[in-house]
Amino acid sequence: VLVDLLLVGFGHVGRRFARLLEERRAALARTEALEPRVVGVATRRHGAALAPAGLDLKEALARVEAGRRLEDLHDETTGPAPMSGLDLIHRCAQGRGGEAPWVVVETTWLDVQTGGPAVAHVRAALASGAHVVTANKGPVAVAYRELRALAEARDRAFLFEGAVMDGVPVFNLVRETLPGVEIRGFRGVINATTNYILTALEEGQPFERALADMQAAGIAEADPSLDLDGWDAAAKTAALANVWLDADLTPARIARAGIAPATAAEARAALAGGERLRLVARAARRGPTVEAEVALIRLPADDLLAGLRGLANALVIETDLLGEVAIVQMGGGLTQTAYALLSDLVAVTRRLRAPGRAPRGQSP
Ligand SMILES: NC(=O)c1ccc[n+]([C@@H]2O[C@H](COP(=O)([O-])OP(=O)(O)OC[C@H]3O[C@@H](n4cnc5c(N)ncnc54)[C@H](OP(=O)(O)O)[C@@H]3O)[C@@H](O)[C@H]2O)c1
Repeated sequence: VLVDLLLVGFGHVGRRFARLLEERRAALARTEALEPRVVGVATRRHGAALAPAGLDLKEALARVEAGRRLEDLHDETTGPAPMSGLDLIHRCAQGRGGEAPWVVVETTWLDVQTGGPAVAHVRAALASGAHVVTANKGPVAVAYRELRALAEARDRAFLFEGAVMDGVPVFNLVRETLPGVEIRGFRGVINATTNYILTALEEGQPFERALADMQAAGIAEADPSLDLDGWDAAAKTAALANVWLDADLTPARIARAGIAPATAAEARAALAGGERLRLVARAARRGPTVEAEVALIRLPADDLLAGLRGLANALVIETDLLGEVAIVQMGGGLTQTAYALLSDLVAVTRRLRAPGRAPRGQSP
């Protein structure tokens, strides 16, 4: 299956995904009969390009990494170079005959309050007949119901495995392997930066050094307050609750805690008392409502979440038929996030080969 891709966002994750496509090209052709072709790329500061016959991806990578712009790669027979991600999506939609499938791969920046600009990209893509895969938490944390309904109405996939725990299958695991199972709630440690800092504090290391480690590794957000103030965990909690518990939450509506240098004393006091201080995301269905929060709590040392050190994350899902099911991630990173996009792309391809059997969106 020849599948055209638009890469909306071409930063760390988008570029790692582009390289992964090349690395796995032969295997994708052999095992999935998938032939991905990148026909457009959009960025904020490096311009955008549309090339319906296929874009020179190596050159696009080289240009952006050298701080240059993408317009020279644009096919001018399609008109002037697109001005934005939205423009790229609209222009690509206009120029298509309608038969060949296309997928918008959304990896732009996250505004945790509004979900922008990703929500607008996903909305435009689905409305234009594209399938969407994204690593961005925004769309599912802020506008899941609307986007799921749009995807269903247009019979398109809207997948977002990379939004929580990078490439470790979280949404896919439930969707693909737990049919008929009801999820009643979940709790987890789902932000690597704060967990790394908390375990460093337990060992007596300074807060600033642990944070600097995370920034140097590219794991903390450039603006670390997103991690430290619990916003990232709140966005993931909203995403999980919206998908699994049919909630209609946004990150701003979730009670939130974070960590600061003063947390060191609390972390060491917990340790001295045989406990562990962890930033825990949790949500549960209570009758017609869903209660969700991100809280800094002391856990008994034998709790699975207490045992998570450094970059490790885990989610414990409470189900009706299987009791508690845990998913543990020992360490994350760019390749894992890029893999999440690749696995979602494969899910779209399987759906194209067997319409009606593969995922539509992520219905609860
Ligand atoms: N990094 C990770 O390990 C990780 C893990 C899971 C999920 N995520 C999520 O994945 C997404 C991308 O992360 P990243 O680390 O790749 O970020 P990044 O390096 O900052 O890249 C963001 C990309 O989006 C582009 N962009 C921003 N606003 C845009 C707009 N309005 N229109 C078109 N392009 C726009 C940027 O263009 P310019 O470069 O020209 O500014 C850049 O190419 C984020 O939502 C993040 O939360 C990241």
